[in-house]
Amino acid sequence: MPSAAPTRTFICLELPETIRVQAEELQRRLAGLGDKIRWVNPKNLHLTLRFLGEISRSQLETVSLAMRCAAARVVAFPIRLSGTGCFPTPRRPRAFWIGVADASPLIRLFETIEGELASAGFPREARPFSPHLTLGRVRVDRSNPRLGEAMGGVEFDAEPFLVTDVTVMKSELRKSGSVYTPVAREPLKSFRGLSLKPE
Ligand code: 2AM
Repeated sequence: MPSAAPTRTFICLELPETIRVQAEELQRRLAGLGDKIRWVNPKNLHLTLRFLGEISRSQLETVSLAMRCAAARVVAFPIRLSGTGCFPTPRRPRAFWIGVADASPLIRLFETIEGELASAGFPREARPFSPHLTLGRVRVDRSNPRLGEAMGGVEFDAEPFLVTDVTVMKSELRKSGSVYTPVAREPLKSFRGLSLKPE
């Protein structure tokens, strides 16, 4: 029997609809920057925790199991998306993103995921984790600092939302754009009484 093709895979947080709508609205506000930017399809917006690249079917099963273990060790927590920026620098922007206010619980989740993946035999990510939600990528004119300046003046503040699970996502690169399909959604530990509202 022929072996199955490898699967391009990443681990991410999916977004509540309200946040997705707000991010899409920000993309519309930035649409004046023109066709130099390839905006992420709003239904594809996500926050990447770990990119794994192409992995085999058995590795995909291992990753899903590792995510089950990681998620079960982390209590659900609130995060708030806030601020915008560019990678690598506003002078030579290649990607526009929304940031995360107080990312420490998210960083702890990332570290737990890294630990479980390392135990399962995956080499640790060489680059430091930099929490962000990519809104669009610059396809031409990358050395145009006006794009970065325009992004620098944009404000974004969303309501906090509760992170309740992590998603193992399959990515297919098609001519019409990336198609993302959840392979597994693993629930974080629930915490009775956790509320987004101050007491
Ligand atoms: P980005 O948001 O910073 O662009 C699916 O492609 C997700 O995996 C994207 O959110 C992207 O992160 C990330 N990704 C894609 N290719 C990658 C790579 N080679 N290294 C690290 N992350 C990558």
